[in-house]
This record gives sequence, structure tokens and C-alpha cells, in this order.
Amino acid sequence: SVDAKVDSLLALMTLEEKIGQMNQYNGFWDLTGPAPKDGAAAKKYEHLRKGYVGSMLNVRGVKEVRSVQKIAVEETRLGIPLIIGFDVIHGYKTLSPIPLAESASWDLEAIKKSAEMAAKEAAAAGINWTFAPMVDISRDARWGRVMEGAGEDPFLGSKIGVARIQGFQGDNLSSEFTVAACAKHFAGYGFAEAGRDYNTVDVGMSTLNNIIFPPFKAASNAGVKTFMNAFNELNGIPATGNKFLQRDILKKKWDFDGFVVSDWGSITEMIAHGFAKNGKQAAEIAVNAGSDMDMESYLYVEELAQLVNEGKVDVALINDATKRILKVKFELGLFDDPYKYLDENRELQVTGSKEIHEAALDMAKKSIVLLKNENKILPLKKEGLHIGVIGALGADKTSPLGSWRIAAEDSTAVSVLEGLKNHSTNKISYAKGADVSVGKPNFITEVKINTTDISGFSEAITLAKQTDVIVMVLGEHGFQSGEGRSRVDLDLPGVQQELLEAVYAVNKNIVLVLNNGRPLAINWANQNIPAIVEAWHLGTQSGNAIAQVLFGDYNPSGKLPMTFPRHVGQVPIYYNYKNTGRPTLPAPDVVFWSHYQDVENTPLYPFGYGLSYTTFKYSNLKVMNVDAQNNAVTIEVNLTNTGDVKGKEVAQLYIQDLYASVTRPVRELKAFQLVELQPNETKRLVFKLAAEELGFYNDLSEFVVEKGDFKVYIGGNSQATLATEFSL
Ligand code: IFM
Repeated sequence: SVDAKVDSLLALMTLEEKIGQMNQYNGFWDLTGPAPKDGAAAKKYEHLRKGYVGSMLNVRGVKEVRSVQKIAVEETRLGIPLIIGFDVIHGYKTLSPIPLAESASWDLEAIKKSAEMAAKEAAAAGINWTFAPMVDISRDARWGRVMEGAGEDPFLGSKIGVARIQGFQGDNLSSEFTVAACAKHFAGYGFAEAGRDYNTVDVGMSTLNNIIFPPFKAASNAGVKTFMNAFNELNGIPATGNKFLQRDILKKKWDFDGFVVSDWGSITEMIAHGFAKNGKQAAEIAVNAGSDMDMESYLYVEELAQLVNEGKVDVALINDATKRILKVKFELGLFDDPYKYLDENRELQVTGSKEIHEAALDMAKKSIVLLKNENKILPLKKEGLHIGVIGALGADKTSPLGSWRIAAEDSTAVSVLEGLKNHSTNKISYAKGADVSVGKPNFITEVKINTTDISGFSEAITLAKQTDVIVMVLGEHGFQSGEGRSRVDLDLPGVQQELLEAVYAVNKNIVLVLNNGRPLAINWANQNIPAIVEAWHLGTQSGNAIAQVLFGDYNPSGKLPMTFPRHVGQVPIYYNYKNTGRPTLPAPDVVFWSHYQDVENTPLYPFGYGLSYTTFKYSNLKVMNVDAQNNAVTIEVNLTNTGDVKGKEVAQLYIQDLYASVTRPVRELKAFQLVELQPNETKRLVFKLAAEELGFYNDLSEFVVEKGDFKVYIGGNSQATLATEFSL
């Protein structure tokens, strides 16, 4: 068995070699060139040759990976292979939509397939392990990393996280087409105060148990091989040094048997947090708390042996961490053949293959959300029109790749302009109008938002006057969301709002295509622009997917995985809020209820919202069966396509537990089905709820199903009004 193999290898290892397995380095010299002679690189190189490195990240491509793997396998005493990690967040070189966009598909099969394709391309480049999926729930669109998650809902987030894990890891982790997955960032990272990345997180047990933990628990249950801890502190304890999270919850309560990697430098960061006096103490705290592998703090390799010798760290913990790491390496098949992921021919064949591009296009179409379509302005005709494409993002071939695309090259996405030309014989003209950012945005440096330059407006206005319809592509550049990209405004960055209004003044026939990695507050556009299409950052095939939706080759079916506010001041805004004691206006004009003076409480577009080129009707909602003894309920509803084209609908079921020992949200998503219907076709949908859906974590952190009355809502978004009730 794997455990026996791990044990016998462990018995051969020195303390330093064990600690070496717990050490992860970033790629640190020209890996295919000569060995470094001095400085930090030479030290790391020496560590690699001694067997003091268990993993590397950001080393990529067969040639590079082979050069480091060869050292580990052929030069170290025990020849233990490295596990090569990489942020394969939404594809490797060929990119699928950013995770938030994919989540808008609510299509678990497609999401799984997308992860499978990403794994295939990355594994062909020598990668064994992706730092994905990010399963952090977030309710704060100011936080730039919402682009990397599945949105605001723990139920949807759990299903999507599991689909991604299954896609990455497949049924057989030792296959050369799969990679180990990593559920990150454990825990609370998505609840950074004021949406500012890396900021303090302070949440109560109810939110932890009922909102933040569920996708992580689901990931653990689904057999994810690794977890990553987080940069943030949680209720005063940095996640990296948090014993409650890593030992008590993850490894004990959930029985997780994979390993935990720290986030980049997060062990060292415990000094800045004010939680460790120095690096040595930080290493002690982290390992005792259950962080098995040190990413780029260099502290385990420097300090752990001494800490063990001084009796501050029990060697049993080192053995446990090493075993967890070796186990995953065995499961990946790295001990059978450490070069099995290193086949130049496969790399050539798989990278950018037709199969991967087709899956990326399919996923991109499914991720698009139709937000508004007044007077059926969409779909557009494929011939005889003069279409004006306006906006810097309309011709951009880099921005649609989105954030987190370390291996993908600039300018490899299909732009909207190209996509429209590929899919119609219409005359298509372009005017930039205004830049979105200053300079060439990249992953590392701050993207400067262009706030002033309106010199391109006149060209855009002239074009708008000549065209039948305008496709305005506005929003955020791909590098304006993602890690470190928090914002205080959720408006269109720079002068894009002004550009939109200037164009609208001369031609109202506008289709607004949004590119963004987070919900935006687009009140004015919603009031004035006839058609709005949420196209996120859709990856390599972006322009083709958008064109297929705009021309009706694909009937949009996406639904928002995150609430769109009317105003940034409403944030955090989310559908599963608590009622408060004062939810409604007590009498005309009386002020004492939970509201704002200047903006209504409701969102601009609710969670779960999205239109189609057809319409759907829900009817005949019935509770068919209540098994109070076993806490099981069956609910049925009719869904009819009432329009004149085929379409897909995400039928969503929400419950409200009307009174409980801990207050419950006004509604909670507990089931959904993606259903395709021909015009006039009706299907009877059956939803079965069990204890898992009907219960919650109480104030003692126990999972309970409490007897009482429940309300059920079914419909096409979280504001569905068709309702019924049942009692347990
Ligand atoms: O995986 C990431 C993590 O999400 C943020 N910090 C760096 C890691 C490795 O690149």
C-alpha cells in the first residue's frame, strides 16, 4: 500500500531530508543553463542537490522541469522526486474564462471539463499540482480576488469547487493527464475587511461554519490532495499559524489526509502580523499549527532542525508532514516514473490543441450572462448591418485572458472585434474612444487607471453616428482584478462612463458588453442602455464566444454567481442576508427601519439572475412528500419554455428556515438544475432535499436540523416569488 511505501521511505530519511520535503522554492535561476555560482540562487541550488527541497513552483515546460527533476532524482541521496506546483487557475497556456465567469454557467459538467483540459495542458508541461481551486466565498466585490472564486454562495461554491477538483484530479491521479488540486485559502481570506486584499478577517463562528467552511469541507470530502492556508489573520490568529483551522478542523474533524502548503511567504508574514517574534518562532508556530510545507519563507529549511533538537517541535509532527507530502507524490506516480510528465512530444501535441480550444470556447459561451435585452435588440442580424465596436477593450487581445495567466502569452485571445468579424458578414468598424489603463498592464505592477484622456471621444462619436448598432466593450482590464487589485469604486474605470454617455447622446442603439472580474455598479447603463451582456474575462476564445451570443448562435444561459449592487456603499451585499428586527418600512416616511437614505436596499441584479433569448415559466409548485423522521422533502415544479427558441434555464430552489435557535438567512440556495427546453416544452422538475440541505451549524458548532416551518422558493433567480411551505 502507499502508506507502507511511505513508511519504509521515511525510515531511511534523516531529519534534514524530511524537512527538505517540507520546503518549496520558486524557480530561481536559468534552469536550463549553467548552475548558479553565488548568492541566494546558489544556496537554493545546493539545497536542491542535497535533497533539501521537496517541491518547486513556477518551474514550467518539460525542459525546465526535467532539469530540476533530474537533480532531485539523480543527485540526491534518496532520489525523491520533486512535486512541481503552478497556479493553473483557469487554464495553463490556453485560457478558459476566469473562475467567477465559469461559475456563472452553473454548469458543473462544463466546469469539470474545463479543469480537466487545464490539467491536461499543464501536466503536459511537466506540472504535477495546481494551486486551485480557490474556494473562498466572498461577498465583497471590492476584493480583487473574487475573480478567482465561485462567488458569494456556499452551496454553489461547494458544488463548483468539487467539480473543479474532479476535473483536475480525475479518477486516477497517477495518470499523466491529471494534476493534484489545492483548496485555498484556508480560511476566511474572502472576508478581508473593506475588501482590501490581505486585510484583517474577523468573523463569528456562525459565518465560519455556515458560509466559509462548507466549500472547504466539500473539497476535503471530495478527496482534494492539498490545502493552502492564507495570508490573513482570522479572529486574531494568522491562518498560517492557526491550529484551530489546520489541526482541529481540517486534519482532525474533517480527517483530511493530504498536506497543507503555506501561502507565499506567509510563515514569515506572521512577524509583520505581530504574531511571531522572529523567523524561528514563526516556523515553530506554523509547523505546530499544521502547515506542512513552507512556500518561499525559507524558514523550515533554516530553522526546523534546530527547533526539533531544542524540543520545541515534536519530531512526530515532522514525520507526519513528510508522510503527507510523500503520499501525494506516490499517488501522482512520481516514484514509479519521475519523468512520466516529461514528454516533449506530448507537450507539443497537447499545448493549444483543438480539443482544448473547443472546450475553452464552449465554457466561454456558457459563462456569459445576459443582463438586459430591451425590445429584443439581441440577437443581432448576421448580415446587412454596420456595427461600430467602441472601447479599448473591444480590440484588446490580452485583457480577455484575465488575471492569473502566468504561462499564457500576451495577445493570444480572440478580441471582440475579431470575433464579430469571424461570425458575420456585417460591416464592422472600430474606434477606441478611451484607454482603460495607462501603459502595458502586467501581473506584478499596479495598473494605472486612465482617468482623464478623452481625446479619442470624437472619433468614437463620429463612428457612432454612422452605424446601425454599437457594441461598446467597457469594463476592467484583465489585470484590474485579481490578487492585490482591490478597488473602492465599482464604476467603469477611467472615463469609460463618460464615453458611454457621449456615444449614447448620438446613437442609443447600444449593446454594452462588460469585461470585468467582479460585479460592477452600472446603474446608469441599466437605466439607459437597451442591451447589456456580462462577458467577464472569458479567456483565449473570448471574442468568438461573445460573437456567438450576440448573433444568436448560442442562446445565453448564465446566471450571476454574485450580487451586483446599485452602489458600492451597499457592499457587502448578498442574497442570503439576515432579516434584522426591522426589515420593512413601519409606516409611511418613518425612518426607523434597516435601510439607507439614498439608495434602496435591493441589488441592481440579484444573485442567480440572467436572461435568455427565450422566456421561462414556473408553475404547479408542490411539496410532494415530507418525511419528518428522516428530514427529507421532495418538491416538484413545472418549467416551461414560453418563448420561441430553444434555451437553457438554471432552475433554482431556495429555502427559508422561518425560525431557529440561530437566525437563518431570508433564503438559501439548496438545489438547482440546468434544464434545456424546446419552445413550448414543459418538464416537471423534481428536487429532493435531505438533512444536509435542511440543517445548519448552531451556536455550539453542531450540525442540526431543527423542527419547524420552512418556506421554499423556486425560480430563475434569488428573488423568485413562486413559493410554498412545509413543516418538519
Ligand atoms: O497560489 C498562490 C496564492 O493564491 C497567492 N500567493 C501565491 C501563491 C502561489 O503563486
